[in-house]
This record gives sequence, structure tokens and C-alpha cells, in this order.
Amino acid sequence: MARKRVTPFTKSNLIKALKKGADILDLSEKFQKLPSTILKEIDELRKRYYNIKFESKDPDQLGIFKIQPQELPKGNLNIDIDMNKLNADVIEFGVISDLHLNSKFERIDLANAIYDVFADNGIKTVYDQGNWIDGYAKRINHGQVYQYTVDGQLDYAVANYPQRKGIDTHFIGGDDHEGWFQKDTGLDVGRLFQQKAEDKGRTDLHYLGYMEADIYYETPLGAFHLRTLHGGGGSTYALSYYVQKLIESIEPAEKPHMMLVGHLHKALFIPKYDGVAAILSGCVQDQSNFMRKKKLKAMQGAWMVKVILKENGEPWQITPTFIDMTDLGLKPRRKYYIPDEVIKKRRF
Ligand SMILES: [Fe+2]
Repeated sequence: MARKRVTPFTKSNLIKALKKGADILDLSEKFQKLPSTILKEIDELRKRYYNIKFESKDPDQLGIFKIQPQELPKGNLNIDIDMNKLNADVIEFGVISDLHLNSKFERIDLANAIYDVFADNGIKTVYDQGNWIDGYAKRINHGQVYQYTVDGQLDYAVANYPQRKGIDTHFIGGDDHEGWFQKDTGLDVGRLFQQKAEDKGRTDLHYLGYMEADIYYETPLGAFHLRTLHGGGGSTYALSYYVQKLIESIEPAEKPHMMLVGHLHKALFIPKYDGVAAILSGCVQDQSNFMRKKKLKAMQGAWMVKVILKENGEPWQITPTFIDMTDLGLKPRRKYYIPDEVIKKRRF
């Protein structure tokens, strides 16, 4: 009689056998070892986190040892959600940016319509992310503004920036446009704008700072951290790219809960990326010559934002409402280039 081949009793051979599944007598015979020795080794494997199950379906037959795939533990599905902690406070504000007043591409009509919508919806606080005036840089907007001086443009803005009873507008200054005056002259243009407004009896315009400002809405266990800012640089190949890179570039400890981003003249809402919600504010100016040459789209409009805050200040629910003002009462663009009397004579 031929002798049955004995498999060497190694860990890897035992694992191989257990993957297929075998009862204790099969294993004992296969390795020519006592069942107690085999059981001891199975215990060792279990200590090294092998998932070895023992299944015994029929009481008359020996049970089977078999290595099974690891299973994820069952999660705790009974988390107690305390709605009071999630629903600690509600805030609402308007977002408007890049009015570029004094530019021949300005849209004071759209800006006023937006403030009417704010007023109708009970908005009391509005954040403006800058470029409230077009500023003056000879190589960029010569011939495209009504006034070239900072006083002329700011007086114009005081007279034309929309004002509604009960609405306060908190603005920051951009590094460009109004910022050109700032850089050329060392003048704090934002403070001067607020001062000029106050001199004319307007107490609704509040300067928050140059380029960016942080606002904190206190909650019982923390604060909602909102940042309003004017971006920089040119537009990017995709709508979300600029703001994604911007969020990534901010150190974790400095990251706000939400950012309102002006400058790009684009509108976008990102609910949460790297822990930060973001709104690209849009603009309230027609596509300028500069933008036309650079093939940059002007997304005209503004936002109303409602945020339900958790007890610790984090946003729980964000409801952004975009007020789309594109193509509304749009002046035929040719008017920027062709005098009225010529338009009347010709059919287009
Ligand atoms: Fe702008």
C-alpha cells in the first residue's frame, strides 16, 4: 500500500488548508499531527488576527474550520442627534460685489434692483467684496470712466451706491481698482469712502478693511467665522479652480467656516471643501473692454444667504439664493462703441 503523502506542518500550509476549510480530523491526517497540536496552532493564528470561523451545521458531523474574509464591524447606528445643538442660531445676509461704479460699464440699474430684492426679503446686512469704484489706471480703463480722481469717483459712489432703509452694507476694498488709488497715493480709500458717505448723511456704508475681513457670529459654544475677501490675479480655466486653490492655501488654523470671494466676476457656491464653504460673489458690471479682450465672462448677480448654525458655530445648513441679473435689461453692447445717433440711423 502506497504511503499517503504528509504535508509539512507549516503556518503557510495550515493557512492554505484553512482557506479551503477542513475539519479537525482531516487536518490531523493531512499534517500527521495530534488534533490538540492543530488546535493550538489555529489559536495562534487567531491571535494574529486571522478570521478563522468554526462552523458546525450538522451535530452528527465534525465542524469545519475556515478562514473567512474580514468583516467590517457594525457601526453604531443609534447615535442620539440632539437637534437643539444643530439648530442653535440662524443668520441671513446679502452678498454683492464688483459694482465698479463710475465705469462706463457700471450697472446702477441692476444694483438697485438687487437692493430692492434684499429689502423685500428682509435682508438687513450686506457684504460687498470690493471694487465699489472702477478706480483709474491709464493703461487699463482710460476713456472708460467718468472721473479720473479719487474724490470724483468716491463722491459719485456715495451718490449712486444703492441705499435702502434698514440695510447696512459692510464693504472691503480690493487691491485693484479702488486699490490702485491706495497704492499710488498711500490714501486709505475705504475709510475715505465711509467718511464721504457719512458727510452726506449716509450711515449705511461701513468699511471693514483692505482686501479681507473676518466676521464672527457668536454662538453658545463658539462662533461662526465668515471671511469676506477680494481675490487677486486672473481667472482660471475652470470656475471652481481659483477658490479650491484659495481654500487649500489657507493654513488650517486660519480657515474660516465660509468665504465670500469677490474679484472674479463669477458666481459659484461650494457647500464644503476642506472644511470651508465658499461663495463667488458675481458682479454688477457689464463685461468691460478688459474682460472682453481676455475672454472673461461677467456673471451678473448677487446672493442672499441663510445659514443655520450649530451650537459650536459651524454651519449646519446653508441656503444660498442667487439673484441672477444676467441678460436683464441689458444695454445693447454696441452702444458702448457706436454713438446713439448712428444707431438710430442704422438697422442692426
Ligand atoms: Fe472687479
